[in-house]
Amino acid sequence: MNVSNTPLSEHTKNLFTQIYEPIFEQYTNFYYNNLESEFVEKYNVIKDPTWPDCTAYSKFAKLPDAIKQECVDVHNFSPKIYYESVKRDFGTYHTQTHVTINDTIVKFIRKHIDVIENKNVIDFACKDGAVSCLASLYKAHSVLGMDVRQDNIDIACSIRQDLQLDINFVLSNLHDYETNKILCKDKDTALLFGIMYHVHDHVDIIDSIFCNNVKNIMIESGIYEDEQPLIWWKTEPTFELRSGWHDSKNEIIVGFPTISWFDLIANYYGYTKINQVTYNIPSSKNSPNDHPGPRAILLYKKG
Ligand SMILES: C[S@@+](CC[C@H](N)C(=O)[O-])C[C@H]1O[C@@H](n2cnc3c(N)ncnc32)[C@H](O)[C@@H]1O
Repeated sequence: MNVSNTPLSEHTKNLFTQIYEPIFEQYTNFYYNNLESEFVEKYNVIKDPTWPDCTAYSKFAKLPDAIKQECVDVHNFSPKIYYESVKRDFGTYHTQTHVTINDTIVKFIRKHIDVIENKNVIDFACKDGAVSCLASLYKAHSVLGMDVRQDNIDIACSIRQDLQLDINFVLSNLHDYETNKILCKDKDTALLFGIMYHVHDHVDIIDSIFCNNVKNIMIESGIYEDEQPLIWWKTEPTFELRSGWHDSKNEIIVGFPTISWFDLIANYYGYTKINQVTYNIPSSKNSPNDHPGPRAILLYKKG
């Protein structure tokens, strides 16, 4: 099945609109604010001192007509034009961050297709089921996606229906360690993508997954680069819309393990690292001070 040519139902489109448009708006504003100086330089624009008042593109409309005219005529620039260019560059629903991550993930999975093909796969923290769908399209024997958010499960189910893929999605919480063990039962491959840097209980989560008979474990995570400390802690502010994991807390401590931490713990459970890739992404949050890349994809096999 060719996914890109498969039309999405109205239901899926509605879900996309509800979930992704506000997120996309946040991302776009983030890039818009961060790249403004680069854009000004590139287009040789003389920045009007009044522009800080219109850092949000929506405020452009409220500028005095004379300034608006000058932005457009004299400097060949307007916040609106700039916003549109940022929007174009970062895609419609998927930001450059997502494009970078997805591209790297797809290449890595294709390279290790043996851990997917004809295998029973569990996709932890599956979000909208993108990776679950990929595993199914790459001929997994079965795919089970889990996520803590009902809206993610809803959209995953809707996409599954549109793509006519045979995947199961369940609502579950990664912090329920006993349930993780049940979900891992009879699975050959566990995927932990984009989740380990959102949690604080790495050891318990890893234990509940690595203690089973899962043969292959693939982890994609934001990582801490240095050897010391093994896990670097930070507070993560709540972004309610896209982060149901915070349980309505305003801030939560989360950890970025190092690759050596993952290696150590995998080794402890009798796994060997087969491959790894590292890559960098821009900050994935709505704040310039947030933790940008690096990230890693790691593949471990039992034995
Ligand atoms: C960055 S997204 C990763 C999405 C997906 N794995 C991917 O790579 O495309 C993080 C996901 O983790 C989910 N999540 C966060 N905390 C969770 C928890 N305690 N249990 C299950 N899922 C959780 C969120 O709902 C969100 O969908």
